[in-house]
Parts: sequence; structure tokens; C-alpha cells
Amino acid sequence: MRIDVLTIFPAYLAPLELSLVGKAHEAGLLDLRVHDLREWTQDRHRTVDDTPFGGGAGMVMRPDVWGRALDDVLTPGAHLLLPTPSGDVFTQATAHAWADEESHLVIACGRYEGIDARVAEHYRAAGVRVSEYSIGDYVLNGGEVAALVVVEAVARLLPGVVGNPASLVEESHGEAGLLEYPVYTKPPQWRDLDVPDVLLSGHHARIARWRRDEALRRTAARRPDLIAALAAGALDAHDRAV
Ligand code: ADE
Repeated sequence: MRIDVLTIFPAYLAPLELSLVGKAHEAGLLDLRVHDLREWTQDRHRTVDDTPFGGGAGMVMRPDVWGRALDDVLTPGAHLLLPTPSGDVFTQATAHAWADEESHLVIACGRYEGIDARVAEHYRAAGVRVSEYSIGDYVLNGGEVAALVVVEAVARLLPGVVGNPASLVEESHGEAGLLEYPVYTKPPQWRDLDVPDVLLSGHHARIARWRRDEALRRTAARRPDLIAALAAGALDAHDRAV
């Protein structure tokens, strides 16, 4: 997969050189390119923004600069992503869809009050798939952190990026629709706390049942919305008793 990120702060994306995403890039599993939007400015001051028509506080990013940049970077079939707090919420299901179905993502990071609305309108009209997405109900200073989130969430689902694919199976927001159960490692006793006996029992069926019970309890306590959203038949009689 190829991912291009356009930003006025390329240094913000430096963490993508680390850890799994960095290794995926080095191994050629992910073709990641970070661009400085100011390279597409044409004035001495390298201006990317201006005051909003209609008045109001803050600055808006100019469509002409974004248009030159995106014309250069978009390829046929690319999916243009615009991080914005007013977008559709990005979820694990979105990450799976993009990891499985896309070959080129272009993430255009806005700053200030956002990007002139004609940019999304123009590329949609030109037949480009455009998704405005939010990473949650809070406001960041720009799209860079939201770009980091998408690159990491999508890249780890690409074939070969996570060494042991089994570790993707049981995690929170996975197929079961539940939060993950609590996990423990050595030592079996730490301070005054013991690892639950069942996990030391070697009894696989009991361990699986305990983990599902814990996942159900956690999800019901912390995210009742996820329980409500489970498919009919997702919970059996035992589950409902937990
Ligand atoms: N830009 C500013 N806030 C954002 C958010 N919550 N999600 C995505 N992009 C953003």
C-alpha cells in the first residue's frame, strides 16, 4: 500500500519512522511519503492560508495551494482522506476496510479553521473518492495526529506487518465487538496481587470462558453502546448471565 501525507509540519510525522510502521516502510510493505505542503506555494512567504470569507476568527487553508499539491500526488484510484472533527468517526471497521481494499491513501492535513470546502467538492466532482474522518469528539490543532492514527491503525493490518497475525484476532474492537479481556504475565505474584488462578490452570476451555466473561463485564461497564450494537444472536444464555 502507498500512503502520502501532506502537511505544513512534516516533522510531526517523524514517529512513523519508528517501531512497526517504520519497519513496514523499510521492508517495502508500506510506501509512506510525507510532503511539505509549502512546496506547492508560489509566493515569497510560502503562504498556505488566508482570512475566512464571511468573517470570523482564524484562518482557512487556500484551495489553490491544496489543488496543486493534490493534483501532483493523487493517482488514479487513490482515496483522498481529510481529517476533520466534523467527519465520520474512524473505527476499527474503517481501518480494516481501508487496509483490505485500498492501494493508495492520500491524507491531507488541515490546520487552523480547516481547508477551503471547495477542495473536497472539486475532487468529489472529479470522481475521486473523498472521506472526511474524525478520530473522536474533541478538537485538535490540525490533522497531523489524526493522520498518525490512521497510518498506524491501517498499516498494522497489512499482510506481514504484525509478526504474529494471531495477535490481531482477539483485540479490542475486533470481530467479537467487545473490549479486550485483562492480560497478565510473570511474576504470578506481584506486591499483594495474584494472577487469577484460572490462567495458571492450563485448562484451555475454562481460560477461554473466563476471558470472554471478563471481556463482557468490561464492555458492559465501560462501553454499553458496544453491547447494544452487537448483532442479534451474538450473546448466548451464558453470556447474558455474566
Ligand atoms: N482535526 C482536528 N480535530 C480532529 C479530529 N478530532 N479528528 C480528525 N481531525 C481533526
